[in-house]
Amino acid sequence: SKTHRIAVIAGDGIGQEVMPEGLRAVEAAAAKFGMALEFTHFDWAHCDYYLQHGKMMPDDWFAQLKGFDAIFFGAVGWPDKVPDHISLWGSLLKFRRDFDQYVNLRPVRLMPGVPCPLANKKVGDIDFYVVRENTEGEYSAVGGKMYEGTERETVLQESIFTRKGVDRILKYAFELAQKRPKKHLTSATKSNGIAISMPYWDERVKEMGKAYPEVKWDQYHIDILTARFVLSPERFDVVVASNLFGDILSDLGPACAGTIGIAPSANLNPDRTFPSLFEPVHGSAPDIHGKGIANPIAMIWSGAMMLDFLGHTAAHDAMVKAIEKVLVEGPRTPDMGGGANTSEVGKAVAEAIARG
Ligand code: NAD
Ligand code: IPM
Ligand code: MN
Repeated sequence: SKTHRIAVIAGDGIGQEVMPEGLRAVEAAAAKFGMALEFTHFDWAHCDYYLQHGKMMPDDWFAQLKGFDAIFFGAVGWPDKVPDHISLWGSLLKFRRDFDQYVNLRPVRLMPGVPCPLANKKVGDIDFYVVRENTEGEYSAVGGKMYEGTERETVLQESIFTRKGVDRILKYAFELAQKRPKKHLTSATKSNGIAISMPYWDERVKEMGKAYPEVKWDQYHIDILTARFVLSPERFDVVVASNLFGDILSDLGPACAGTIGIAPSANLNPDRTFPSLFEPVHGSAPDIHGKGIANPIAMIWSGAMMLDFLGHTAAHDAMVKAIEKVLVEGPRTPDMGGGANTSEVGKAVAEAIARG
């Protein structure tokens, strides 16, 4: 079978701590399912590299990475060393844009063994996907400052919504909804206040919906949608949103389902012209860095999504099953009320994968 070439970038903070556990689990699955994986580690795209070189990555980063089948990514950002907009626009956001990873797929699931902060929820009640637009929208560097230092100081920050960009994320979301048993899609906008881009998004949803008559869709303003996430998460199946709204919903969703320490994501280039990138939803967590207590499950689950995208669905399913077993039986990191460290949890998941 084909050897999959995987670029490994651990990044900053707990990215460095959870990555070895992500690799341990992926390697266990590769051994179990007879997959050939080849890992190449890159020691850039982190803030210490920036302090040394004045940039986050070498100039030829694109050429170095573009031939890989996937990028396995930890987290970037250390605001005390480098301002966040510099470190993120210099690395992760470049990957998403230049590799055209226009889908950010983020499952939200109440897993067995995970205490839910919402009352009376059981496994199965929270089980949906946030499909986040990942290359345009509110995330932009278009705009500028005027009259700086004067009383008229003015800052402009543009959002960009292209027909191609909106339609391709909606198409992905409708296709996903069509494959799910509930066949339900929710679109998040804010068309009452944001008077141009959001009504445009709504129009494109209505248009795209015509091609998917089996999919029932609805739309909510983002403010009330966040309330509904908390009050009735069971009604969601696939939730599609712009870059910023999707970012917010994909921290809120996992928090409603217990902890952001287990939430995975896949930054997909569905056309496969460039590598896709797999990373936890969470960041570098400077507050717990160095303590060895970061939950590695988001990283491991992201690894499972990577194997799925590479065509190894059985390996993905086995990894998720192993995660569920460890969530139920322990060991658990402190964010889940346990006393175990990162590598104890990582080893337990890898052993569960190996045993099957
Ligand atoms: P964060 O996700 O790093 O941390 C938020 C809170 O969640 C912290 O209290 C942290 O300890 C906790 N947490 C996060 N992951 C955890 C895990 N695996 N186990 C246990 N607890 C966990 O978000 P933040 O504090 O807003 O950001 C910190 C830095 O990370 C910033 O530089 C930010 O820009 C960056 N960031 C990067 C990414 C990414 O690379 N994809 C994502 C989010 C934030
Ligand atoms: C995420 C993160 C990033 C984002 C930041 C670090 C730029 O929060 O992956 O959710 O906003 O996309
Ligand atoms: Mn985020």
